[in-house]
Amino acid sequence: MEELKGIKIGYALCGSFCTFRQSIDEMRELVAMGAELVPIMSANAYTLDTRFGKAADFIREIEDICGRSIIHTIPQAEPIGPQKLLDVLVISPCTGNTLAKLASGVTDTAVALAAKAHLRNARPLVLGVSTNDALATASKNIGLLMNSKHIYFIPMSQDDPVKKPNSVVVHFDKTPEAIQCALAGQQVQPLYV
Ligand SMILES: Cc1cc2nc3c(=O)[nH]c(=O)nc-3n(C[C@H](O)[C@H](O)[C@H](O)COP(=O)(O)O)c2cc1C
Repeated sequence: MEELKGIKIGYALCGSFCTFRQSIDEMRELVAMGAELVPIMSANAYTLDTRFGKAADFIREIEDICGRSIIHTIPQAEPIGPQKLLDVLVISPCTGNTLAKLASGVTDTAVALAAKAHLRNARPLVLGVSTNDALATASKNIGLLMNSKHIYFIPMSQDDPVKKPNSVVVHFDKTPEAIQCALAGQQVQPLYV
């Protein structure tokens, strides 16, 4: 797929640590498709070691894939607006926490501020939901964001309806087509797969 050649993608990760492996593999795919990636992480994603891996190892791998250092502070994220740095911003995985911030206009993390700065340029924001409460607390935020200008979603589905009935996880492999549609002002379909 050549359609992403030369597209400058901000690619942000929030603290859904169990999906980091898949998300980082997708970053590699996007670079292979010719996109230029500007990596962004929330402070939690950037600093916390969890049972899914050490922060320093993820940082090293992401910076190696993107060939640049990760934006992880509010001052580093702020120029995304005035300098019109990105064609499209992807937040994937996007936590319930960050969905709530985005839906409420709270901008106290590097990722939330990156979104605000980018949206000021009326350019597309693409969200990859990964949260256990997507069909509970987060559902109102997802609904609000789906009905907001310039915001699109990567296709997603319930990952374990029996044990985690409110959980929804993005299909990372659908990221390229979601980006292409968003750049054309459209929501890729089907949204729930
Ligand atoms: C091991 C671990 C896994 C987590 N997985 C998720 C997740 O998949 N989805 C989610 O919404 N929050 C998850 N959380 C909670 C978030 O990391 C937490 O809400 C945090 O405040 C998110 O901050 P951020 O959105 O700024 O990255 C997890 C936390 C830990 C420690």
